[in-house]
Amino acid sequence: MNRQMTLIAFLQAQNCSNFPASWRHPDAAGDFLTAAYYQRIGRTLEGGKFHLAFFDDRLAIPDVYADDFKVTMKEGIRAVKLDPMLCASALGFATSKLGVGVTYSTTYYEPIHVARVFATLDQLTGGRSAWNVVTSLNNSEAANFGNDVVLEHDLRYDRAEEFLEIVRGHWRSWDDDALIVDKKSGVFADPEKVRRLEHKGQWFKSRGPFTVPRSPQGEPVLIQAGQSGRGRTFAAKWGDLVFVIYPNLKVGQKSYADFKDHLEKTGRGRDAVKIAPAVYAVVGETQMEAEDKRAAIDKLVKPIDGLVLLSEVLNFDFAKKGYDEPFTTEEMDGISGIQAFRDRVVTLSGRSNPTPRDFVEFTRRGTLDEFPVFTGSPKKIADEMEEWFGTACDGFVISATHVPSSYEDFVRLVVPELQRRGLFRTEFQGTTLRDNLGIARPRVG
Ligand SMILES: Cc1cc2nc3c(=O)[nH]c(=O)nc-3n(C[C@H](O)[C@H](O)[C@H](O)COP(=O)(O)O)c2cc1C
Repeated sequence: MNRQMTLIAFLQAQNCSNFPASWRHPDAAGDFLTAAYYQRIGRTLEGGKFHLAFFDDRLAIPDVYADDFKVTMKEGIRAVKLDPMLCASALGFATSKLGVGVTYSTTYYEPIHVARVFATLDQLTGGRSAWNVVTSLNNSEAANFGNDVVLEHDLRYDRAEEFLEIVRGHWRSWDDDALIVDKKSGVFADPEKVRRLEHKGQWFKSRGPFTVPRSPQGEPVLIQAGQSGRGRTFAAKWGDLVFVIYPNLKVGQKSYADFKDHLEKTGRGRDAVKIAPAVYAVVGETQMEAEDKRAAIDKLVKPIDGLVLLSEVLNFDFAKKGYDEPFTTEEMDGISGIQAFRDRVVTLSGRSNPTPRDFVEFTRRGTLDEFPVFTGSPKKIADEMEEWFGTACDGFVISATHVPSSYEDFVRLVVPELQRRGLFRTEFQGTTLRDNLGIARPRVG
């Protein structure tokens, strides 16, 4: 059989999708504070044989812009953040095969807590859990967790390395066959098959024994999306799924080839990790219908959306600068949020001291064009996905222009076209996310 693509839905436990204007769309559902909202999306995705519904997260409301949250609230720019684990659980309990991914930060949580939450999710969903490992990025998150400023970028990754060692250590501290549960003999578990971790490191201490027996997948699937040099090395070491942002196909092809070469050098092998770029898809029955839809969506955007979200992601207050005032070298060096955003603007604008206008124009933050947008008939979208697949990626993170219609349209129109071409499966291969991704279950004991 030909290789087939991996499809992931990019979900948010908030009032809008990744596209901040989505809540303004006339067809956007308004019941994002209910379990039913997430469950409806989950059922749609499972019907479309998606591999994974994945929830992003940030641990603060966007309030770096003008050092205030009022405009964020008024305009609804990612102004609500529910706990994604609970929304994902609601979705997981309404489905039976779809993977359920959640973002958790290694900078603000404790390893034992994260290990436990994901092992529990894996138990309760019959082996469908995935953790998106993030290191967090701005001072607003730091302030919510008792710190003035966010930890420096590379230190965040140092901490994340040790964090992952502990989480994986706990997950491996129960043998697969440790549980006996024999009422007749009265033996519950074999104590020889459960160990303490006894971790003492630079950032953490954690003793164990772990409180959750080995879960159906053995270890939940790990997702990572580092874009810096350090981040990509980390992603290649730990990730099973790696999410990326490509400005276009050509850059994507180069980046994909480099990442696969790197994987081979590290000994994990080219196919050990699946790479999926974030994209939008605006599909219509016809090309014209899709273009009309796209035009209506673009009209929902307000300029303030981009400025608020640039300030959030770069951890720099864009209200402090004139729109055409170049950043000083000191300001550029001091950017402590996602540095890949800054670097992309420098490369694309050709200026080492870009202006806020350059940041807006070259990142297109807050608009659909932040990611590649596939717009058109099912055939046109499938053509584009086919061109990307295998040369630039192993699958896609499908972002929603608005919820739930984006996913309903994609599943109704694009999925059958991909299936007809043999590019996408028509059935789930198994019951766990690992089965469905074709990743082996690690054995212990
Ligand atoms: C598709 C995608 C989803 C992401 N989701 C989150 C998220 O939910 N929370 C978060 O803090 N960062 C998220 N990130 C950011 C990455 O974790 C990472 O911090 C960022 O790409 C910068 O890379 P670096 O950490 O190597 O500098 C996401 C990135 C991508 C490409």
